[in-house]
Amino acid sequence: MALLPVTLIGDKILRKKAAQVREVDVKTIELIRDMFETMRNASGIGLAATQVGADKAIFVIDTSVVEGHENDKPIVFINPIITSRSEKTVLIEEGCLSIPDVRAEVERPESVTIKYYDTNLNEHVLNAENVLARVIQHEYDHLQGILFTDLIDDNLKKKINKDIIKIKKRKFDFTYPVTENVDYHLV
Ligand code: NI
Repeated sequence: MALLPVTLIGDKILRKKAAQVREVDVKTIELIRDMFETMRNASGIGLAATQVGADKAIFVIDTSVVEGHENDKPIVFINPIITSRSEKTVLIEEGCLSIPDVRAEVERPESVTIKYYDTNLNEHVLNAENVLARVIQHEYDHLQGILFTDLIDDNLKKKINKDIIKIKKRKFDFTYPVTENVDYHLV
């Protein structure tokens, strides 16, 4: 097991549509374990593979640390597809390990249906609502190259811009390992 450096807003891989997983080999299993360890070390409840620099359509979640969700099981989503979204939307505050300390309310569907594969490549369909639906949509977006800050209005974007520049320049007191400042100016 290993803690992996978390990619930050500005890193190119966060803007890439993640590649489909064709086989779950030993390296993939190791990656998934490291993703859980990296996520928990950073007190996150969801993490996409692109957030640890891996170009694979995988994300993991563990919502058991959320109040009232103590019995939730950790889940690995491989090659996920959101197949339906509720018409009803809700505003919920979000944060992201790739944009530390920045939080904003984001409007998204209240519930979604997601199809995905587990590590044995068995197919599952999950109807998710509330917190679970929120985390799933946030992580799913990561695999499409979308960050939650893309979904907020321009005034709010302006407000958080200074914080984002600090993160991109690594002039920020990170509490977990992050990628080096290599290409922040490119995106
Ligand atoms: Ni995120």
